[in-house]
Amino acid sequence: THVIAQPCIDTRDQACTEVCPVECIYDAGDQFLIHPDECIDCGACLTACPVNAIYLETELPRGWKGFAEKARLHFGS
Ligand code: SF4
Ligand code: F3S
Repeated sequence: THVIAQPCIDTRDQACTEVCPVECIYDAGDQFLIHPDECIDCGACLTACPVNAIYLETELPRGWKGFAEKARLHFGS
C-alpha cells in the first residue's frame, strides 16, 4: 500500500484524490489517508502530491513509519 505522511497535514492539497484510479484516498480530518486494503499501488498519487507526502509503505522515511499505522487504525484495517 501507499501511505500519506506528515507533509499532508495542514496542506491537504487533494491533487492525489483526483488521480487515484480506485478512489481510495479519503479525508481524515487533519490530513488525507489511503485505505490500505483498497490501494492497488499504481503510484499515480505519489507523483501528483506537490509536497511529496506520499510513499510506498516500505519506503517511508524512518520518522514517518507511524503514518502506516495511523491509516490502518483510521480504516479499521
Ligand atoms: Fe490510489 Fe494508486 Fe495512490 Fe494507491 S498508489 S492511493 S491506488 S493513486
Ligand atoms: Fe495531501 Fe498531497 Fe494528497 S498534500 S491531500 S497527500 S496531494
